[in-house]
Order: sequence, then C-alpha cells, then structure tokens
Amino acid sequence: MSVIGTGYLGATHAACMAELGHEVIGVDVDDNKINQLTGGEVPFYEPGLPEILRRNLDDARLRFTADYADAAAFAHVHFLGVGTPQERGSYAADLTYVNAVIDTLVPLLEGDHLIVGKSTVPVGTAQALQERADALAGPDTNVEIAWNPEFLRESHGVEDTIHPDRIVIGLRDGSRAEGVLREVYASQIAEDIPFLVMDLATSELVKASANAFLATKISFINAVAEVCEAAGADVTKLADAIGYDERIGRKFLGAGLGFGGGCLPKDIRAFMARAGELGADQALTFLREVDAINMRQRERLVLMAKEFLGGSVMGRRITVLGAAFKANSDDVRDSPALSVAGQLNLAGADVSVFDPQAMGNARKVFPTLTYADTLDEALTGADLVILATEWRQFRDMDPRHVGELVAQRRIIDGRNVLDVDAWQAEGWTIGALGRSL
Ligand code: UGA
Repeated sequence: MSVIGTGYLGATHAACMAELGHEVIGVDVDDNKINQLTGGEVPFYEPGLPEILRRNLDDARLRFTADYADAAAFAHVHFLGVGTPQERGSYAADLTYVNAVIDTLVPLLEGDHLIVGKSTVPVGTAQALQERADALAGPDTNVEIAWNPEFLRESHGVEDTIHPDRIVIGLRDGSRAEGVLREVYASQIAEDIPFLVMDLATSELVKASANAFLATKISFINAVAEVCEAAGADVTKLADAIGYDERIGRKFLGAGLGFGGGCLPKDIRAFMARAGELGADQALTFLREVDAINMRQRERLVLMAKEFLGGSVMGRRITVLGAAFKANSDDVRDSPALSVAGQLNLAGADVSVFDPQAMGNARKVFPTLTYADTLDEALTGADLVILATEWRQFRDMDPRHVGELVAQRRIIDGRNVLDVDAWQAEGWTIGALGRSL
C-alpha cells in the first residue's frame, strides 16, 4: 500500500501499517520530510513512533519517496492523509492538497486501484473526488474512492492506530472494496475492534461529529467553570461528580485553557461552513458558541494574570510553562499556551516560555518571546508563573524548589492539574479557571 502525506497522520499510519506486516511506501512532496523519514528520523515529536519507523525501515517493509510514479507502480491501495487546513478568510476547509493528490496520482495509475481517504473533509468530498478521479483515469484504469476517517490523537498516535476504538469505512453504492479493507485491518478485526461499514457521506460526517462532540464537551465544562467562579464553586470537583454518570463520563471534562491544535478548532468551523452550504446552517449554530467559549478562556486567563499583578502586566516578569497545544506534543498550531504568552507579551509583560518539546516550533510562530533553555531558567525571577500546557514535568514541580527560584510566589494553573494544597502550604497564591482558591 502507499500512504500519501507524511505529517502527523500519514507518517504514523505508514509506520503502523508496516508494523502490522504490510508493505508500505510513504509519499510526500516535501523532500526534507522524505529524507528525514528515510534516515529513520520522525520530523515531529510522537512518542513511540521513532522505534516503529526504524524497525520497519530495517526490515524493508517501509520506505519513503517523493515520486508518485513509484507509489503508483508499487501499490494498489493508496491511503490519502494530507492536511485540510482552514481556508484563508473563511471557515471552510481548504481542499487544495487533497485535490492535488488525486490530480497527481490518478493519471499515473494502471489497472484497478483503491484510494482510501483518511483526511478530515467536508461531507460530499469523497463523492467529488470520485468524479475527479473518473475524469482523470486512463481507459483501462479503474479507481475507486473509499473513506476511512482517522481518530488518532497526537501523542497517542501509535496506540490509536494499532488499537483504535473502531474502524469506520465509507463506501460508494455497489463497491467491492470492503474485502480489501478487511484484509488491511485483519489484525484489528481479529481483536474484535468494531468494523463499521457505511455510505461515504455518513463516514465523512462521523469524523466531523466526533470532533464537534469532543469540542462541545470541553466548552461545556469551561462554560460551567465560568459559573463556578462566579458562584464560588469548584469545577474540578463538579466534573468528578458528574463524570461518574456513565452517560456523561469524566473524559474531556478537563476545565482550563481549552482546546487548540490542528484539528478541533478548524474542524468545528469547517463543519459549520459545510452545514451552511447544505442549507442546514441553523443546526450547528451552537458550535459558534462552543468556539467562542473556547477562545474566551484564553482572554480570561490573561485577565486573571493582570488581576494577580495588580491591574497591569507592563514590565512584569511572567513565566509561561508550555507552548505545545497539549502535553506530549511539539505541535503549536492554534496553541492556547502560545496565544496567552503572545497576548501578555503584547500587553507589555516580559514573558519567558519553556516547553519540553515545542520550543523550535514556538520560536517560528512567536520569535519575539523569550525562550528559556531549562525549566529552572524560565522560572528564575518570575513575578507570576502560568501553567499553560499539562506536561508531567510541570505537574510534578516541587513548590518549595520553584519558590526559591521565583521573585513572587504566584501561580495560575491554566489546566487544573496542580495539587492546590501542596502549593498553598509552601506560601503560594494560586489561581485557576473555574475555582475560587
Ligand atoms: C483530536 C481528537 O481527539 C482525535 O480523536 C482526532 O483524530 C484528532 O483531533 C484529529 O481530528 O485528527 P488532538 O487534536 O490530537 O485529537 O487533541 P486532543 O487530545 O483531542 O486535545 C485537543 C485539545 O483539547 C488540547 O488542546 C487539549 O489540551 C484540550 N483538552 C482536552 C482540554 O482542554 N480539556 C480536556 O478535558 C481534554
């Protein structure tokens, strides 16, 4: 099989499919990525992936190329895992890269081929790509488009690919591709992982709905957090209590700075945009509120920082712990942590940022912030510390040791992960979203 696109999704999928015993060729237009992957280097931080990549390169089940013709000749099943970012100046998804794959690959194909989309796309895309492929395929070539949405979380990519919660397959009417995909995923099917076959449109909507639900859950608890603060209540205890109800569940009820990354924010916007195009825009207007609640958390944290420092952050030393959009990742796309650091910097604060993995990416996005080489260096002399990404290294900080480094013992827990009693016992003033401490 080939896997086209070697970002977080494609590189992980390619390496994991090889790990399952398939022969895989990864394709990307970016020569740098191809060279790195060929040399056994993963171009981003994903725990566990480098080991799988190297093992399968060594066993010659996996290789990478920038040459589509190589992939066209080598494989009959082609996974499509390129990005669908937010379009400039609109909420819609930009399908340039997805279309480009079809335009480049299909004219090179001979015989019967199956292209299996994994990218998150607006409903209707698979059918449009089928029409595009039909127009480009040679007279003796048969190309079918199927959809197999991906649910992997960055930082858990390997586990989520090898042992997913479910496998969703979208097929066109009269398709004969189910058998091929059952072969591809034979080991997961043998583990009794649900294998759900449906029409193309439903499979596309499954992915959009799953991410919209997750985003809604986070914004729900963040909205309740605002009420908790106003009422003098504690959102973490509330989340524990409602989470025991199996119908609700405790996961994704972590109140704090909210969601970021390359998926949830742009996916809820693309979902709204597509619903509007289909004439069902009223159905998803609540997602506008989900988005607004989420973005408000960043502003609320900046306001809290100002209050902590007596009304203004001008000239004050603030340490922001975290730059990645979540722990165990180096991804800074739409990162709440960097957004807070940037806003404080613009308000005149002297901001020092530390992240265990995302410093390189953060520097590219916000070159004007100060980046410390170590956690201790970042903390030294701080008037205020803000925990913005839930890395274990930050959760496990010793309040006594940190107290010796900072100028003032003030901390805001933007992710509700610190042991409040332990910090208060060391003389810290601690603030958190959704709690009155
Ligand atoms: C998300 C989905 O969880 C995956 O299932 C999906 O495949 C992926 O998008 C995608 O569409 O490709 P990911 O973006 O890796 O995965 O990140 P999540 O683990 O979902 O976290 C998203 C954000 O929500 C992070 O910024 C995290 O800090 C925040 N979050 C998460 C909270 O604020 N509270 C929580 O309780 C949980």
